[in-house]
Amino acid sequence: MLSGDKVGLRARHEDDIPILRAELYNDVVNASRAEGGPWRPMAPDSKDPRLVGDDEDQACVPFSVVELDEGALVGTATLWGIDNHNRSAHIGLGLRPSARGKGYGTDAVAVLCQYGFVVRGLHRLQIETLPDNAAMLASAERNGFVREGVLRSAAWVMGEFLDEVLLGLLAQDWKPTPKG
Ligand SMILES: CC(C)(COP(=O)(O)OP(=O)(O)OC[C@H]1O[C@@H](n2cnc3c(N)ncnc32)[C@H](O)[C@@H]1OP(=O)(O)O)[C@@H](O)C(=O)NCCC(=O)NCCS
Repeated sequence: MLSGDKVGLRARHEDDIPILRAELYNDVVNASRAEGGPWRPMAPDSKDPRLVGDDEDQACVPFSVVELDEGALVGTATLWGIDNHNRSAHIGLGLRPSARGKGYGTDAVAVLCQYGFVVRGLHRLQIETLPDNAAMLASAERNGFVREGVLRSAAWVMGEFLDEVLLGLLAQDWKPTPKG
């Protein structure tokens, strides 16, 4: 497991799946805002790779995020779009509603940076989020991500086109957060 200050990132466990399906992926508003594709309901036996992962897909590493004290599941963290030629990847996060606003998102971004830059030797990490997602923007900026631009009307979300903010962090600008 990769550990930060408050959260750890580990592999997806069987027990995580019904919780993530109910609280994140079957929530049409959350899923539509957080993912760049159309929402579809997930059946109880769904093998959707967002839920169960796909060991064959080298470009995507899905983690479950757990709180370090009790080991309780708090959400998902994903390094996706891993490009080993340009040495870049994207970060995605989704926390359970009850786990938001407690600093877990900021810490999960820190641990994903550690994974991307140290374990995977990447050079650039990128995040795309909606302009009103203050918690995601702050979680990224607290870890040194800078706003690089706005992708105008890039996301179709619940009946309207919305802009996306593009944030990036280069390995040489990353300052690992000290533990403790
Ligand atoms: C986005 C998300 C991962 C952020 O994680 P989080 O644990 O809630 O965020 P944190 O508690 O680390 O807060 C980060 C910062 O945002 C601020 N913040 C948190 N919730 C906020 C809110 N609802 N409105 C405004 N600011 C907020 C915090 O005060 C903190 O600011 P600070 O660094 O100045 O102290 C989480 O809220 C989430 O999963 N949301 C739903 C899914 C989603 O939007 N995923 C991202 C898609 S790109």
